[in-house]
Amino acid sequence: MTNPDAPVSAYEKERSDGGEVDPRCLPQELDGDPPIGDEIVYPDYSEQDHANWKFLFERQMEMLPGRAGAAYLKGVDTLGMTSDRIPALADLSKTMERATGWTVARIPGLLHERDFFTLLSNRVFPSTDYIRGEDELDYTPAPDLFHDIFGHMPMLTEPDFADFYQLFGKAALNAEGVDRQSLERLHWFTVEFGLIRDPEEIRIFGAGVNSSKDEVLHALEKAEQRPFSVDAVIDQDYEVWHLQPVLFVAESFDQLVTEFRTWAVGRGLLQADA
Ligand SMILES: [Fe+2]
Repeated sequence: MTNPDAPVSAYEKERSDGGEVDPRCLPQELDGDPPIGDEIVYPDYSEQDHANWKFLFERQMEMLPGRAGAAYLKGVDTLGMTSDRIPALADLSKTMERATGWTVARIPGLLHERDFFTLLSNRVFPSTDYIRGEDELDYTPAPDLFHDIFGHMPMLTEPDFADFYQLFGKAALNAEGVDRQSLERLHWFTVEFGLIRDPEEIRIFGAGVNSSKDEVLHALEKAEQRPFSVDAVIDQDYEVWHLQPVLFVAESFDQLVTEFRTWAVGRGLLQADA
């Protein structure tokens, strides 16, 4: 049941420009267990779908060396992604499982929070398997496989990040009230828009940045970069619909997992031995 006093998610807030929220951005509940790993059938993609993947993949990969973090770029390599065809979720799942024990579930679109957190808490990454159309190559507000695969999956081959994301899922299942808002901000400023010191230069690891042409340039050249701490992040509001003015730089993925665990245990969202 929805708690009327709970802070609303940023997606549920009115758009500040008065626009309607895209219906594809409204979360849906799963009706049964989604297919995982080898159970996922490779869709019958059109030539245009593969061409859209190729365009997006090549455009990002031209920009990301020297901007994306080493762990992210290594993850792209580990997962064997190339521009010539849309990767199969079943293959990605197998490779991720070998790297960090994460697998992939195919899901139909933006998920209801509880389904999303439950999958994360089980080290399962929910991914769509359809790609944005030709008219949305620069920007789509809705989830699609380019964001899910290219943005998120490389980081799930990084062991500390992989642990952090599972802990996040576990903590989120226990969160209520203000803790829900804190977790939403933590997700936004790490998983989606996180920066990392790597080792001397600041680089990108967030999926929302690495999968977006405009965010990549903005994050490193225009956004204000502040040192990451859980307390700083949970105090920082954000706007879904604009380029991000403030981002946070973690010192390492170990810092991320360690500080998050300490905070979540302190809030009673995780057991001390989590
Ligand atoms: Fe995302």
